[in-house]
Amino acid sequence: MSEKNDYDVIVIGGGPGGYPTAIRAAQLGMTTLCIDGWVNKDGSPSFGGTCLNAGCIPSKALLESSELYHRAQHELHLHGIGVGKLDLDIGRMQARKQAVSRANAGGVKLLFQANRVTGMHGHGRLLGNGQVGFMALDGTQERTFSAKHIIIATGSAPVELTSLAPFDGKQVVDSWGALDFEVVPKRLGIIGSGIIGIELGSVWSRLGAQTVIFEALPDFLPAVDKQIASEALRAFAKQGLDVRLGSEVVDVKVNKKGVSVQSNVGGQNTSESFDKLIVAVGRRPYTDGLDCSAAGVEIDVRGFVKIDANYRTTAKGVYAVGDVTGGAMLAHKAIEEGVVLAEQLAGQKSEVNYQAVPSVIYTAPELAWVGLTEEQARQAGHEVKVGTSSFLANGRARAMEQAVGTVKIISDAKSDRILGVHMIGPYVSELLAEAVLALEFAATSADIQLTMHAHPTLSETLHEAALAVDGHAIHSANKPTRKSE
Ligand code: FAD
Ligand code: NAI
Repeated sequence: MSEKNDYDVIVIGGGPGGYPTAIRAAQLGMTTLCIDGWVNKDGSPSFGGTCLNAGCIPSKALLESSELYHRAQHELHLHGIGVGKLDLDIGRMQARKQAVSRANAGGVKLLFQANRVTGMHGHGRLLGNGQVGFMALDGTQERTFSAKHIIIATGSAPVELTSLAPFDGKQVVDSWGALDFEVVPKRLGIIGSGIIGIELGSVWSRLGAQTVIFEALPDFLPAVDKQIASEALRAFAKQGLDVRLGSEVVDVKVNKKGVSVQSNVGGQNTSESFDKLIVAVGRRPYTDGLDCSAAGVEIDVRGFVKIDANYRTTAKGVYAVGDVTGGAMLAHKAIEEGVVLAEQLAGQKSEVNYQAVPSVIYTAPELAWVGLTEEQARQAGHEVKVGTSSFLANGRARAMEQAVGTVKIISDAKSDRILGVHMIGPYVSELLAEAVLALEFAATSADIQLTMHAHPTLSETLHEAALAVDGHAIHSANKPTRKSE
């Protein structure tokens, strides 16, 4: 337990928004305390927030395991490999997932030690006048700390459909519950075909669950470029994911056998039974118990902490970063905001480029994008050039038995500056870094055309798409497209 009461910086929340802020502030010479209240289901406290404990990392561990199972079933024979009858040990798969998460979260503690950040497990609340109240997790020890700068990084929590499908932690679960199933549900229902619905639907569907996803909107993944989203929908349908667009869940009843879900499509009601129902309809900013109003920190109508361009809240000396502030609810966006804020507090000129925030959906094939979609570019008044290339023409993808998907590059017709890159295909999450760098450096499609890409690599498809922007593609019949409408 820390004996010190005054700090330069106190960060409330130790997720991707909070812990990097604390580390960067300490690296820049500020005395820093990070208070975090995360408690795992077994009662153990842990830094790392949603991302490391119940989000990014455990979901990617299960996506990896389930994909290996799927490929062993459906692909290994194509390589001439026979494995006999496959075994599925969910207990072991879950134990591995937990070990991966715990290793990452444990790493935060070590980073705190290495950077002289004081990390404390407990609840923090704003007392006003540069003070923070701290309650230990066992509720016994109340202390007051003060700091020049207080940073709110309290993150987000799943939206609950309280009157339609309240969480019971057994049959109707949130994303955390859906990461912890101990047996594969025979029939799995999911409300919401957003990123969580698609990623976790993929996990359990690959492991054998008959999976139905109810989506109220008529469009699939509306934030994604239309061409890429419709290719994704076709790929997921082929894998057996039953995504029902324009399907509104109107009634949910939990019974001994499972969950009965009534949905309405075009005025017609149908009822179906599931073993489990995942509700994945978005996340809400989390400020419960923070006492924002007492400290003069205003929140907006949707519950997000109001901030200006420099992360300042409406209370002097109080700042906020990450999911609790709105915008993209992504770990890397939270990390960048925290680091930039710490640097600003140290007097440095530092800022986040919100035009180049990457997004990834870790399904198979993966989706990855940065910048404007073709539709957004046109709406913004650009005359655009579009180049696409298919992984069908990529030797490495074929050798990997993963020749599915497309890379699409949108550039401004006059300046050739790249406005957006949208991809579906194998490991496009890893190809995305080149596209983000292109946007950061205001690169043109000619810049990528002139850059040599190793052969045979998946990145050659990105190169080909850049060549296709001007009709130079070597390995595909893509015609150059110049579109003004
Ligand atoms: P959080 O990670 O939520 O951290 C907030 C922390 O503050 C928590 O530890 C919380 O306990 C603590 N806290 C809250 N109030 C208090 C208080 N009063 N006192 C002390 N502590 C407090 N994003 C990606 O970029 N890539 C992905 O692949 C990805 N996968 C995801 C998968 C799932 C299933 C989910 C649910 C989310 C995923 N996300 C992903 C989103 C990502 O997890 C969040 O964007 C990220 O965690 C936000 O970081 P944060 O620090 O703002 O909030
Ligand atoms: P989301 O906002 O991505 O999707 C929610 C979906 O639910 C939307 O399509 C919405 O139309 C639908 N919906 C809302 N209410 C509904 C209702 N009553 N009935 C039917 N459908 C309804 O939210 P999701 O999937 O819960 O994810 C939350 C956040 O977590 C995302 O914003 C994302 O930023 C983050 N995340 C990121 C990941 C990644 O980067 N790979 C992975 C998982 C989560």
